[in-house]
Amino acid sequence: MSAVELTFTVNGRPRVVEIDPAETLLGVLRDRLGLTGTKEGCNEGECGACTVLVDGLPVDSCIYAAAATAGRRVETAEGLTHDGLGRELQAAFVAAGGVQCGFCTPGFITTLVAVLREDDKPSEEDVRTALAGNICRCTGYSQILDAVAATISGRNER
Ligand code: FES
Ligand code: FES
Repeated sequence: MSAVELTFTVNGRPRVVEIDPAETLLGVLRDRLGLTGTKEGCNEGECGACTVLVDGLPVDSCIYAAAATAGRRVETAEGLTHDGLGRELQAAFVAAGGVQCGFCTPGFITTLVAVLREDDKPSEEDVRTALAGNICRCTGYSQILDAVAATISGRNER
């Protein structure tokens, strides 16, 4: 298939990339832009390791057509390390033991940034529902929920 030009914004920076029209967003981010903070797990939209934000909403980039991001705003784990909320979540994950092998962590933090931007006091039920598409094989989830609770209470104490 002939290449097409994709113009979009990645982590606040305008980008123009030649892509195959069938290419996934995950492939473009990792292989063409070198943004390997977004992980490739199941490649089937099941594990959430590849979560990124498109116009602020979480998507599974392994099953999301890169071409569909034309003119849109993509945020990845790399960008979120420069975001205040993303940094707070990262620190809370480390403090609570929510990072073990770390493979799932970028996807969890990306999803949680979207949740907490919308609502600074989500219930635990809301958090669990939002994280239903993110799988962690190491932590048993309780440390992750502790990290989210610590982030929420830290932000609401200010
Ligand atoms: S790698 Fe995309 S959902 Fe698992
Ligand atoms: S920390 Fe290993 S999969 Fe979550």
